[in-house]
Amino acid sequence: MKKTIITLAFCVVLFSCNENKTEFSSNENLIDQKIDSLLKIMTLEEKVGQMNQYNGFWDVTGPKPDGGDAAKKYEHLKKGWVGSMLNVTGVKNVRAVQKIAVEESRLGIPLIIGFDVIHGYKTLSPIPLAEAASWDLEAIQKSAEMAAEEASAAGINWTFAPMIDISRDARWGRVMEGAGEDPFLGSKIAEARVNGFQGKDLNAHNTIAACAKHFAGYGFSESGRDYNTVDVGTSTLFNTIFPPFKAASEAGVSTFMNSFNELNGIPATGNTYLQRDILKEQWKFDGFVVSDWGSIIEMKAHGFAKDKKHATELAANAGSDMDMESYAYVEELANLVKEGKVKEEFIDDSVRRILKVKYELGLFDDPYKYCDEAREKDVLGSEKMHNASLDMAKKSIVLLKNEGNLLPLSKKGQKIALIGPLAADKTSPLGSWRLAADDNTAVSVLEGLEKYDGNNLTYAKGTDLTLEQPEFIKELKINTADKSEFGKAITVAKNADVVIMVLGEHGFQSGEARSRAVLDLPGLQQELLEAIFKVNKNIVLVLNNGRPLTINWADKNIPAIVEAWHLGTQSGNAIAQVLYGDYNPSGKLPMSFPRSVGQIPIYYNYKNTGRPVLTDPGIVFWSHYSDVENTPLYPFGHGLSYTSFVYENLNITDTFKTNGTISVSVKLTNTGKTKGKEVVQLYIQDKFASITRPVKELKGFQMVELNPNETKELKFSLTKKELGFYNNTGDFIIESGDFNVYIGGSSNTVIDAQFNLNN
Ligand code: NOJ
Repeated sequence: MKKTIITLAFCVVLFSCNENKTEFSSNENLIDQKIDSLLKIMTLEEKVGQMNQYNGFWDVTGPKPDGGDAAKKYEHLKKGWVGSMLNVTGVKNVRAVQKIAVEESRLGIPLIIGFDVIHGYKTLSPIPLAEAASWDLEAIQKSAEMAAEEASAAGINWTFAPMIDISRDARWGRVMEGAGEDPFLGSKIAEARVNGFQGKDLNAHNTIAACAKHFAGYGFSESGRDYNTVDVGTSTLFNTIFPPFKAASEAGVSTFMNSFNELNGIPATGNTYLQRDILKEQWKFDGFVVSDWGSIIEMKAHGFAKDKKHATELAANAGSDMDMESYAYVEELANLVKEGKVKEEFIDDSVRRILKVKYELGLFDDPYKYCDEAREKDVLGSEKMHNASLDMAKKSIVLLKNEGNLLPLSKKGQKIALIGPLAADKTSPLGSWRLAADDNTAVSVLEGLEKYDGNNLTYAKGTDLTLEQPEFIKELKINTADKSEFGKAITVAKNADVVIMVLGEHGFQSGEARSRAVLDLPGLQQELLEAIFKVNKNIVLVLNNGRPLTINWADKNIPAIVEAWHLGTQSGNAIAQVLYGDYNPSGKLPMSFPRSVGQIPIYYNYKNTGRPVLTDPGIVFWSHYSDVENTPLYPFGHGLSYTSFVYENLNITDTFKTNGTISVSVKLTNTGKTKGKEVVQLYIQDKFASITRPVKELKGFQMVELNPNETKELKFSLTKKELGFYNNTGDFIIESGDFNVYIGGSSNTVIDAQFNLNN
């Protein structure tokens, strides 16, 4: 009997291998037929095995593990009880695990190999929040494309990205992974990233499956504390949280990841409404859903599941197709099916979804297609990767302030003092989520500036930010006492024409589990800044950070402020090119910068309330704080350039009745002396509606490059898609009435016009 099954299995694999690749990937029916025949010969345990994902567990290229968890995982691989592995890095290792699955298991079904390729693999691009600040969809898509090319050359065929959680809370460390606070911008970027990772052909050897995460609501974790409870109403869910996920689904993303948080009392992993009703039914998503790490078993701690078995039942019934590291499905799911608590058709559906992605990736054609050592050597860290990373890094920089045109620096004769704990740092700019990159591989600001006028450059650290070498999995120890380096920095500053201070957060101060309750410059940096300011006021503050910070003092006192995030491998070169004016900055903030943590959540698309503060009312009964303004320090969409732009002639043509379009045009002129790019932003306000609408909503943007004195007319179209909204039963509706239209270079620098929609 055993022999017959093996022969049959061999035929399945062989049949797949001999198939013409292009026809194979383009023919969904054929894939369905193959999955049907495979499902027919799979045991229940093998089906459940496809739904099981393990973390990389031992040096696969070394001796076989003989005991403990590693041995168990190895046995499971051989039995065909593992459908996917994550965190197996490098061609050699990937080949080794794949070999066990394909050559030692009964059916030889290949593994899908996942990894957190969040902003690059070996060569890092800017953190996603920084990339979002470029508002440059083409560049963002290209960046994901490069990440896919590099990761795929290292054996990876599935990234757990893009992270598309909208968040209005800078305390939450994971804002660095997303695209900020706005659902419109977030949706466009979600689409660009999916297209970048997956390309036009998932079967190509340099594209990888993407994963829209975390579904859903994770960005609304209470008080910005990671993994915390989420309680949001229907309107926020449909109008703010869902849109990027819907966009990713429509862009054909292969997979979704659910999330750690509970949403309105139900953990996302056990949430049927999210995974089955919305995602698979309403949006017709036909890929698979992977749980987050251990999120199935965590439903016990949530107080939703009695034990592991119950958690398994809840997750499988709710539509979580793959278990990441809970060891729940592999241990409990087959029994639950036998007991009638989970329908076998649910299992078949999950397996079908998982196998489909494997077929689409071409893994059945050639399980080792991502395992080419020569390609790995050529692609990882190649010049092409570095050039792409530099290009993206420049585009991500936001000029927050530039009083008296302190920037750009003059290329000759200016004595520069470079000060700050992050100025010479070659690790921090890599940011969080950089599991395959090596420490000390980023170009520091010091190195970047040295290439310009090294002879006139003096560097002093000023202070250390951390007390020991930061590690990804450990809490950072911040220096709050040692000021021994202050004196040297003060002397250096005294002798300079301009001081560049590189301050902010270490790369590991944002990211997963890196929530902060205080958003000031950490450690002794504020004190250092003020000490330097006392001796030299010509300061350019270069911020390195993974989230908006509260920098009121700096905004009031420091003439030039550059938001340089964590820009990745080419960070220092990009910053130097911007500081010296070889690149004119064009980035715009994707998240509002608060004046105070007490204002959070703070976002530009808020609701008016019944008592908005329009002008100083003279009495207290208005929606405000008595100790801080309502407005953010820097609003969403803000970002300056070395040139200036003027907006004029905002015109609206209403042809909604005839062709369903409101046409908007505006004239933009570069009124400065330098060629520059501007992100032209269009916002609307639906002035009254059956569900109250925000004061402003981004509904269009364009990037334009203009020479000095050049003028361009820009045209936008508003259709039902931009003018409508979701009501509280989740239906998309459009209502007649008055609208405001705002256009400008930020969410608060705008010219406006009105129209009446009579649909
Ligand atoms: C947990 C994180 O929440 C998720 O985003 C990530 O993809 C997984 N860990 C795997 O590393």
